[in-house]
Amino acid sequence: MQMFLIFIVGIAFSSLSSANPTLGLPALSVPENNLQTPDKIELGRLLFHDSRFSGDGSISCASCHHSDKAFTDALNTPLGINGQTGARNAPTVINAAFYKTLFLDGRAKSLEDQALGPFLNPVEHGLSDYKKIINVIKSDSAYPERFKQVFGIATDDIAIEHVVKAIASFERTLISGNSLFDQYYFGRDHSKLSESAARGLRIFRRKGNCANCHEISWDNALFMDNQFYNIGVGFKRIDKQLSDIISTLQTGGKIEDLDLSAEQISELGLFNVTGFIKDIGKFKTPTLRNIALTAPYMHDGSVESLEEVVDYYDKGGDKNRFIDSAIFPLHFTDQEKIDLVEFMKALTGSNKMK
Ligand code: HEC
Ligand code: HEC
Repeated sequence: MQMFLIFIVGIAFSSLSSANPTLGLPALSVPENNLQTPDKIELGRLLFHDSRFSGDGSISCASCHHSDKAFTDALNTPLGINGQTGARNAPTVINAAFYKTLFLDGRAKSLEDQALGPFLNPVEHGLSDYKKIINVIKSDSAYPERFKQVFGIATDDIAIEHVVKAIASFERTLISGNSLFDQYYFGRDHSKLSESAARGLRIFRRKGNCANCHEISWDNALFMDNQFYNIGVGFKRIDKQLSDIISTLQTGGKIEDLDLSAEQISELGLFNVTGFIKDIGKFKTPTLRNIALTAPYMHDGSVESLEEVVDYYDKGGDKNRFIDSAIFPLHFTDQEKIDLVEFMKALTGSNKMK
């Protein structure tokens, strides 16, 4: 009898594990002061999609992070309020719950912290302060009751902290694993990758040196390492000003003393957060999960396809004074290029998110 039970449980477990939507992902850590509840997640979803929280009522978080587009906008650089465009490509929010820092230059330390940014960004939601958001919420027919249920607060006490907590809770449900790669690698089902994609995995880890930064650990893979690198993309926008920038900084001057455009400031990357010259042009390693769904690529959206990404690395990137030593010419054959792209196409998660 006991054996029989174990047998049944064994079958149930193995069929469950092959459909495990988080296969290949690390454990999700949730801040103690913002635990997940179904009501909070639903409230966050509503707030994420509410375009009344913008200067002209046209922009919500979902405008640039749309569920039909793998939580990106499929544009090179996003369209914000009044038809303005930002300098950086909108990254996907899927699996952002696992990152140690948020934004491409890591300037936010949590999803809660991150969500404070877009509302006041003049080319995104374009609000001058958070008051408009709170007023819309207080005068809405349903929000006050929902905030009361979720946070146990009276209407008068609703504050921006509650708004970003709910949004972050919603974002922590946007996680995606169990790709064909995960089923092959962590699920040990060798039928899941084509021969070409399996060769691509080998190239990714060895000749291509890609896993140096787009990490694969023994029990999970985020295809990112929470580090920042200069791989040369977009650097030509500041190359001519570079000696000016460096001499200004070295003589105690500030970036603001120079006449740089918003696009050029954006290219400074991690430098904008740390102020260290060595961080000029460094950006956070992006995840490659769902990468086939999130073109165009790179922080400036300048690379249109995965084939072009591979060509970019193959040539050793666009050289500059600060380019990382792990970026060098790779001398791929045409077949190796195809294999790498096939591998990246196997990183699309199995679950649908809304
Ligand atoms: C106008 C387009 C736009 C809107 C609206 C917008 N975002 Fe973004 N989002 C971006 C861009 C562009 C970036 C990258 C900016 C950067 O790194 O400097 C980004 C970055 C992020 C990131 C960090 C991802 C990572 O890889 O670190 C998260 C999370 C995020 N947005 C969530 C939100 C939320 C929540 C809202 C609504 C409060 C929102 N976004 C509104 C365009 C937008
Ligand atoms: C030195 C670290 C490093 C190495 C090695 C590396 N990458 Fe990257 N990768 C990055 C960084 C950093 C970015 C973001 C750069 C940017 O936005 O300008 C990136 C961006 C990408 C993107 C675009 C992601 C997106 O969402 O826009 C793809 C695809 C990619 N890399 C694939 C690869 C492949 C394939 C290889 C090996 C041939 C590789 N990378 C090697 C650090 C690295």
